[in-house]
Amino acid sequence: MCVRAPMTRLGVLAVCCVVSLVMSPTLSADPTTRVMDEVIEADPTTHSMSLLMRGAKPSQPDAYLCTAYPVTDLETYIYKFQAQANASTAHHMLLYGCDGPAYSTADIWHCPSVCRGQQTILFAWAKNAPPTELPRDVGHRVGQRSNVKTLVLQVHYAKGFVRNESPDHSGIIVHMTDRRPKFVAGIFLMMSTWFQVPPHRESYPVDMSCVYLEQKPMYPFAFRTHAHGLGKVITGYLYNGTYQLIGKGNPQWPQAFYPVEDVIEVKPGDSLAARCTYDSTHMDQRVGVGATGSDEMCNFYIMYYTDSSVQRPGAECMNDQLPELTGAHFPSSVSQPLPPNPQLEEVASGHHHAHHQHGMSGGQGGVAQVHTTQVHTTQTPTTQTPTTQTPTMQEIHFDHPLQLNTSWPGVELTVGQVGGVSVDQRGNLYVFHRGSRVWNAASFDIDNNFQFQDSPITEDVVLVTDSTGHKIRSFGAGRYFLPHGIQVDHKDNIWLTDVALHQVFKIPAGSDTPTLTIGHRFQHGEELTFFCKPTDVAVLSSGEFFVSDGYCNSRVVKFSADGKVIKAWGEKNLEFGVSPPPGTFDVPHSVTVSEGTGQLCVADRENGRVQCFDLEGNFDHLIRHKEFGPRLFAVEVCPLQGVLYAVNGPAYDGPSDLTVQGFTVDMSSGQLLESWNIPQGLRNPHDLAVDPTTCGSVYVGELNPRVVWKLTRADRSTTPTPHLHMDTQIVNNNKKNQIGQAGPSDTQ
Ligand SMILES: *[C@@H]1O[C@H](CO)[C@@H](O)[C@H](O)[C@H]1NC(C)=O
Ligand SMILES: *[C@@H]1O[C@H](CO)[C@@H](O)[C@H](O)[C@H]1NC(C)=O
Ligand SMILES: *[C@@H]1O[C@H](CO)[C@@H](O)[C@H](O)[C@H]1NC(C)=O
Repeated sequence: MCVRAPMTRLGVLAVCCVVSLVMSPTLSADPTTRVMDEVIEADPTTHSMSLLMRGAKPSQPDAYLCTAYPVTDLETYIYKFQAQANASTAHHMLLYGCDGPAYSTADIWHCPSVCRGQQTILFAWAKNAPPTELPRDVGHRVGQRSNVKTLVLQVHYAKGFVRNESPDHSGIIVHMTDRRPKFVAGIFLMMSTWFQVPPHRESYPVDMSCVYLEQKPMYPFAFRTHAHGLGKVITGYLYNGTYQLIGKGNPQWPQAFYPVEDVIEVKPGDSLAARCTYDSTHMDQRVGVGATGSDEMCNFYIMYYTDSSVQRPGAECMNDQLPELTGAHFPSSVSQPLPPNPQLEEVASGHHHAHHQHGMSGGQGGVAQVHTTQVHTTQTPTTQTPTTQTPTMQEIHFDHPLQLNTSWPGVELTVGQVGGVSVDQRGNLYVFHRGSRVWNAASFDIDNNFQFQDSPITEDVVLVTDSTGHKIRSFGAGRYFLPHGIQVDHKDNIWLTDVALHQVFKIPAGSDTPTLTIGHRFQHGEELTFFCKPTDVAVLSSGEFFVSDGYCNSRVVKFSADGKVIKAWGEKNLEFGVSPPPGTFDVPHSVTVSEGTGQLCVADRENGRVQCFDLEGNFDHLIRHKEFGPRLFAVEVCPLQGVLYAVNGPAYDGPSDLTVQGFTVDMSSGQLLESWNIPQGLRNPHDLAVDPTTCGSVYVGELNPRVVWKLTRADRSTTPTPHLHMDTQIVNNNKKNQIGQAGPSDTQ
């Protein structure tokens, strides 16, 4: 069984199988904690809440059942968890916090689905573990003003119930205080969203790393590792000039939270690096990422506390963003397995592992001392001045944030739904828009055939303005049907894609008539001489060009300057609910090249990510941040700055608190440098363009409202400098649109 982890659609990365125990008894044995506890218990501001299964009687063992309890308080703090269960009934219990309603409104439901939106693990219990409490003066913030609005208890039953047996009420009692403690607890999750473990490898590494970008330092006090059957050892470090071990775990042991040995302070600007090491000696084929027991996962959870002024603690780090800290740079012991621990191995080999692929990784070692280590929770962490520099990291920095340019005409620049925008070498803007036409459910039949082939758009659909928004010229009336992408190349040739015509056009600089047309008018196909709703074009200085194709094909096609196919790559991603492998697309919606670095990046729209390749189509890296949400619409590189600009879009049915906005990403590391927006908020951005000579102006075209915005970096001393901010908004979007089929009101 698998439990949906907090997070993104991509990260439907499950927390599979056993999660148990939690922090060691040593935590509660800390005398200072006890004293604190008594003080709090005598306080009238404390109360408790019983989160018990509402009378379950599963007929089979191994049932995973959930029940939900909304938190009605505005803001309160859990400082102690007390299990009320018997291991002969409940094998293990997990307590989740949902940032919204529970997955189901039923009294009891079959997990794994726990929450509708974001979720975090607050507590885990197994095997009659004694009461566990948080370190002194640390609480989990819950309540309607927090990101834990609903508590969900999950019980993994150890047995089936017979007919006349009384129903079960196992559960957890949480003790809470209304007094804000000095620190709040949170979970920081490191994970790898894409990797493959090759067969016959005794020790295969998967690395993760990123900069810690929260505003306040975090103090890890427990950690948990998660992998499936091939996982051998998972090790996580803080890097602040030297590597500081946060924890090392054997994922074949109970995947509990184990205490962190030393007091560690992770300061803003410090880095985190972790490695999962796999043993695939007995595998005959590659194993990819996925939620099932025959896939693998790589997760390192850090349970930490931070200053209680942090409103929504919890963050995550995906993939290997700082390769200069990982790989061969790790301490040499990183992949060394832990010594055997028969006791833990026995626990882990319980019946609850039935669905695991066991025996493949040979259960190396253990570390009993992990349970006896004293956690120095009584020490009050010192506050240090945050730094934003990591010594080994070359950080791109902007002195001023991107902001709406108020002298730009904005809505006064009349356009239809904006398909694409592009900027030429002189800084002129080119807009390809749909005039009075709207793409809706009537536009195509189910087979992607355009339904109004006698009705070209009667207005001019290409608009050219100077950098202040003054119109230079317009053209294209009577020729196009459903404008999509536009790209002006270094010689000012204009490239257009029309999704109704299934064609790509090249118009020489200054002209308004195509001299090169690729694809067949109104005919789509999978053969390489056809497109199917092609979305965008990127052009090299040699004249060779790339087409992202598109809504119904899922590929990138490379052409010679005279329009002959050189090669194509990419496949539709047919997998659902897991991180699709690179090279598979769900609407490649926008394509951009950085010739100097030999990189081509694609906005893989419905997968909410960017995929970068070399110019021959070999996969290079993937960029995905939780702030993107489930859908990423457009990308454009600024080679001068070495950055990639991107815009996301609203989720189809995701939480409404996803911020639609723009992003600036370091092209080489994938690091998110900044997010930006207009004061009223972007709503349905469809494309963006960057002035290629200065990278100083970014234009965003929206479908609705029908407008092009201009953002510049204001050179005013009153302007606040940009903070490298990480949004805590997380999207969990389960629904996908069908490729090429727009819903009734969808405009693509
Ligand atoms: C746990 O359940 C078993 C079997 O039902 C019972 O014999 C035992 O007394 C219970 N233990 C506790 C502590 O309730
Ligand atoms: C690195 O982190 C450790 C543990 O928090 C700390 O003791 C040490 O002083 C830190 N070093 C620097 C240079 O900040
Ligand atoms: C708007 O952009 C232009 C350059 O494109 C710049 O000169 C001007 O200062 C910007 N105005 C504001 C208010 O940022």
